[in-house]
Amino acid sequence: MIVNTTPTPRNPLRDPRDRRLPLIAGPSSMVMFGVTGDLARKKLLPAIYDLAHRGLLPPSFGLVGYGRRDWSHDDFADYVRTSVTEHARTEFDESTFEQLRGGLRFVTGTFDDTAAFQKLTEVVEELDRTRGTGGNHAFYLSIPPDAFPQVCSQLANSGLNTPRDGSWRRVVIEKPFGHDLASAKELNDVVEKVFRPEDVFRIDHYLGKETVQNILAFRFANQMFEPIWNANYVDHVQITMAEDIGIGSRAGYYDGIGTARDVIQNHLLQLLALTAMEEPISFDAKELRTEKEKVLEAISLPEDLSLHTARGQYVAGLQGGEEVKGYLEEDGIPADSTTETFAAMRLDVNTRRWAGVPFYLRAGKRLGRRVTEIAVVFKSAPFLPFSSTDTADLGQNAIVIRVQPDEGVTMRFGSKVPGTQMEVRDVNMDFQYGSSFTEESPEAYERLILDMLLGDPPLFPRQREVELSWEILDPITDYWAKNLPPAPYRPGTWGPETANEMLTRDGRAWRRP
Ligand code: BG6
Repeated sequence: MIVNTTPTPRNPLRDPRDRRLPLIAGPSSMVMFGVTGDLARKKLLPAIYDLAHRGLLPPSFGLVGYGRRDWSHDDFADYVRTSVTEHARTEFDESTFEQLRGGLRFVTGTFDDTAAFQKLTEVVEELDRTRGTGGNHAFYLSIPPDAFPQVCSQLANSGLNTPRDGSWRRVVIEKPFGHDLASAKELNDVVEKVFRPEDVFRIDHYLGKETVQNILAFRFANQMFEPIWNANYVDHVQITMAEDIGIGSRAGYYDGIGTARDVIQNHLLQLLALTAMEEPISFDAKELRTEKEKVLEAISLPEDLSLHTARGQYVAGLQGGEEVKGYLEEDGIPADSTTETFAAMRLDVNTRRWAGVPFYLRAGKRLGRRVTEIAVVFKSAPFLPFSSTDTADLGQNAIVIRVQPDEGVTMRFGSKVPGTQMEVRDVNMDFQYGSSFTEESPEAYERLILDMLLGDPPLFPRQREVELSWEILDPITDYWAKNLPPAPYRPGTWGPETANEMLTRDGRAWRRP
């Protein structure tokens, strides 16, 4: 008898449910505050349509818009139709839209309008009766955080936060979760007075991106990367989130917030946590969040923030051949604003795995091109048995996870240049989603809205993660406010010169993505 002595490995991706079958949300509705805002129009409403089109919403799904406009249900339906035709990922299908339209309602009101919240309660009950939404209602707060207290207390006063037997009530909150640690705690107190912690879904839309979830598959479903994913082999890690757009019409939101609070506190620190964390024992919310939190807790800041952080603000110039305004000339921005539109920082993760491996983060608007990537840069080979001219063009090996665009993974390594010499030069080996899979990736919001309706929380950061991220960032933004005004940089470049100097000091250079 042949006995298989190979131990069955623990497989964190294993799940008793067959994950190949997409799960379909049960009877439910969503009430959206801030429904006329950009995010709702460009992302949230289209994502709901796309889910409906993919058959992942129940036919009875209800969607209630709440806002100041004096709209009828039909006006709202027209607005949703326009948003869907302009921004949905999947093609427009009249019968899907008609199905969805049956559950569209609009309630006119301001956040302090108690009578309007009474009306909202009636509309939600009407949906339960006529559409069979089963008392399951989600409240999506796509509104500025200073409006949270009022909306939450209105929801509590009208009893909308309290589920009937066996049903659920959930709240979805969009970033920013505060502007520092203290305000994040206050905000959380407000929300958790009204909803149980497990019913609070904090959106970080980066976690809904396929390529971000792929960091887990890449690291933990494979054998060949994990053994080298540590300080023995890795020299440093660079996480870049570059955008070529300016702040557009978002002055009201952006000014006084800046890049570090807008995207580093959330998206980039989440990318760092997923890149650096230990293998969770499962992908349950508790295990995944715990491992991410351990990384955030282990992060330390460099002693001298003037040397290891950089801050910039774009000036007027040419981008893609077009004249673009500087940040200070953008509509609604005060001429003396010191808000940064570029931020870079070095963080260290004090664990055995990462001791001595700096994580460099940078993000900004009006940069060379739109790209988000994580580059794990390896140490050079300890000895090169070649002449120095043969390896003059050889860089460090790197694994680059391209979050967007051109989603995929690239490995960079040295290869012999064909010819009589032993010349070695960097080459790339590429995996691209576009050519490896026929399925198109869903939008991040499709995944996150569906998970929320299913009550599946792993992709939503919990409060502890939010607080730890602010603990990391607060000393930097405090230091900047007092000592480091943003340095100017031209559009289409990769940020201010200070960002380059920051890496040069460490004997390294930013990648040109
Ligand atoms: C948002 C930020 O969270 O992410 C914006 O508030 C930024 O400033 C946006 O433009 C970028 O998202 P994405 O998915 O296009 O990378």
